[in-house]
Amino acid sequence: MTATLNLKSPVVLYDLHPPLDDFRAEVLQGLRQPQKTFPPKFLYDKRGAELFDAICTLDEYYLTRTEISILQDNAAAIAMLIGDGVLIEFGSGSSQKVRILLDAMPQLATYLGLDISKQHLQESCNRLVADYPGLEAIAVCTDYTQPIALPDIPALRHKHKVGFFPGSSIGNLEPAEVVQFLRNVSVLLEPHGDLLIGVDLKKSKEILEPAYDDALGISAAFALNALVRMNRELGSDFDLNNFTYTAVYNPIGRIEMYIISLMDQTIHLGDQELEFRAGERLRTEHSYKYTVEEFQMLAAAAGYGVKSVWTDPEHLFSLHYLHLI
Ligand SMILES: C[S@@+](CC[C@H](N)C(=O)[O-])C[C@H]1O[C@@H](n2cnc3c(N)ncnc32)[C@H](O)[C@@H]1O
Repeated sequence: MTATLNLKSPVVLYDLHPPLDDFRAEVLQGLRQPQKTFPPKFLYDKRGAELFDAICTLDEYYLTRTEISILQDNAAAIAMLIGDGVLIEFGSGSSQKVRILLDAMPQLATYLGLDISKQHLQESCNRLVADYPGLEAIAVCTDYTQPIALPDIPALRHKHKVGFFPGSSIGNLEPAEVVQFLRNVSVLLEPHGDLLIGVDLKKSKEILEPAYDDALGISAAFALNALVRMNRELGSDFDLNNFTYTAVYNPIGRIEMYIISLMDQTIHLGDQELEFRAGERLRTEHSYKYTVEEFQMLAAAAGYGVKSVWTDPEHLFSLHYLHLI
């Protein structure tokens, strides 16, 4: 691990980022499965992060505005629960939603943002410290699906640690992986930490499919950017004109996002040849939807109790305040 202090930036960056070899190995492993997949954590290069921010503003993408409204409506109650703790945000991205909490908690001294997308993470943390004088921001670039060993950071010692995991990114994991992830997180929050987590609720496919396949094609561009990234960083020769995109609701309880090959074609990735049949689908992501009770059962299996849960009037999205038992 390296800790970097950039003299132009007040934010200390701990870089645990997976090296390029891991990117190549994980991509190839996914592309060799009978159902080809792309690891969703690699969707967020600089362009991917920009496209995701654009998705968040779309009419069809109800998730962001609904979670923001729940945070705004309940910020005072959440601030009371957090007290003078330390906030640790998983998948912090543009660190926009945390601002609602920071506005309600002028006493909060330390924020730790954790994300796999290094440049975006650093820029977001820089903007936070500029906008919240007195706030110490720490950036940790890592993969949160792996067990995380945080360095010994003085500002975190003997503090009430509260994890913040917005965006319903938890839905990208399989339910069994959710329990493992929550257990990994609990190690960082011990002994008495809490977790504030946004979880998208079950709803009709008429709402879900356009949310993940919008009329402007931003979701499509976000997924297809995976091919652009592989071409740039791994030297593959995907031709974007030969692929399209769709999002389909699977009644097992998740929406699935696919890049579709428009023809029989052979892709070269280094010394590897990858065959795509016409109509063959490469899954870039899936996002499980839960009822409040289903999610809280997973949380209980990972050792968390519930202090509070909030939803919006239309029951689209839920925000859970969990504590370690
Ligand atoms: C869906 S965005 C959510 C961003 C923001 N938290 C929000 O709610 O709008 C997911 C964020 O998590 C990051 N991310 C995705 N997979 C990750 C992983 N395995 N480890 C660390 N960060 C990850 C991405 O880089 C991106 O910033």
